[in-house]
Amino acid sequence: MRVSINTVQALVLAGTAFADLGVSPARVNQPSDPGSSFNIEKIVTTPEIVPKPDVVLLVDVTGSMNDTIENIKTNLHSVISTVSDAQPNAQFAVASFGDLADPNGFDVVQELTDDDITLQNAVNSLRADHGGDEAEDWINALYLLSTGAISFRTGGSRIIVLIGDAPSHDPSGGHTLAGATGALTAGNIRVIGVNVGRLDRDGQATVVTSATGGMIIGSAADEVSEAIVSGLKNLDVTVKPDVVSCDGGLSVEFEPTEILVSSGSTVAFAETAKVAEDAVQGAAVSCSVRFLLNGAPGGAAFVQNVTVPVNKLGCFTCDPRPGKNLCHITTSCAPTPFGTMCLTRPGYKADGAADDDIKVQWRIMWAGVPGHEHRVAVKPGITANTLCDSRNNGRDVCKEVAVAKCLPVNKLETADGMHNGDQKVINDGEL
Ligand SMILES: *[C@@H]1O[C@H](CO)[C@@H](O)[C@H](O)[C@H]1NC(C)=O
Ligand SMILES: *[C@@H]1O[C@H](CO)[C@@H](O)[C@H](O)[C@H]1NC(C)=O
Repeated sequence: MRVSINTVQALVLAGTAFADLGVSPARVNQPSDPGSSFNIEKIVTTPEIVPKPDVVLLVDVTGSMNDTIENIKTNLHSVISTVSDAQPNAQFAVASFGDLADPNGFDVVQELTDDDITLQNAVNSLRADHGGDEAEDWINALYLLSTGAISFRTGGSRIIVLIGDAPSHDPSGGHTLAGATGALTAGNIRVIGVNVGRLDRDGQATVVTSATGGMIIGSAADEVSEAIVSGLKNLDVTVKPDVVSCDGGLSVEFEPTEILVSSGSTVAFAETAKVAEDAVQGAAVSCSVRFLLNGAPGGAAFVQNVTVPVNKLGCFTCDPRPGKNLCHITTSCAPTPFGTMCLTRPGYKADGAADDDIKVQWRIMWAGVPGHEHRVAVKPGITANTLCDSRNNGRDVCKEVAVAKCLPVNKLETADGMHNGDQKVINDGEL
């Protein structure tokens, strides 16, 4: 049995209340400054049974298997309902093998289906018969099942449950153990060996189950159904965050980038959300991330959304209405493509503020309006009697003041109140 648990994660999670299936928190909304980052601990609870399972019951039907097959007949319904309760889109198929020298060498008894009655009929039709020498031909069966004998769904978890009590001929039907193992891994198919006797006498079952990420479970004939369920519940699952989309200005990273655990376990990722230096201030940016389970999307419960309202570090607006206008008298509350702002007189900047302190003063890119590239805006209340650097002339005047990336307003507030302010609205160059 191969159950790889990341020990560190297991320790971290000991004592953590187990969350519901899926990712938690699924939604994060955290206002942040441009150029900052923050961490989120993401807990992902994996399903007990891997998602969208396509399970092929591959049953040895030689004479010695009578009791085992009778047990499967009796308990098939509970096996199917246990799996389907966990994963409602589960499908099962039934295939059989014996000795290729006999009439029951290999057969697909039932293709994948979710219909219980069809499956029950398929299992009921199995007869334990033949099988002269000890070894059978399951290597051939594994090879054929992984090369087209079964039509697996795309994006599903492909599993063959090999139920037998004897090793396989090798080669078997012309296929070697290595050849069958290669075909299984190429088809992304895992093998669970349910050993009701000497299935692994020669180590073949160990080779094929470990190469495919499955396991071997020992079982008595009358407990084989429990063994099947236990095998399906203990498969490894690789949990991997996959960024579906991110708005410009926000990115997310995960540590580690993927985690391998026994399905049903809970894992933790450290997620870091980074807000770009030039993220649009005042805008909300978000990233959507899904968690893949063995490469397949885990569904709606495994999607997370991180939203960051980007704090304004500048880009402060003003209200031009009488009594509401908080701009200092050395500035003017005037419309810009980014809202009404306290604009300085041309050639002037804030008093006592660093040129790059965009929490106090900033330039705005006022595209398409010549003569406005140099306009400096300040936070309401800030005085602006300082002449810009005399080395910057003409179009370059005041260019020492940092440009802030402000959120454009779709509709300029040219509303009625605007022009009745207690300060004049600036026309080009006028104050
Ligand atoms: C097992 O043996 C019994 C008694 O001979 C028989 O009725 C039954 O059909 C056999 N089961 C299988 C799966 O062959
Ligand atoms: C994330 O959530 C926000 C706020 O609910 C929403 O506006 C945004 O569209 C969502 N983004 C994605 C990618 O789902």
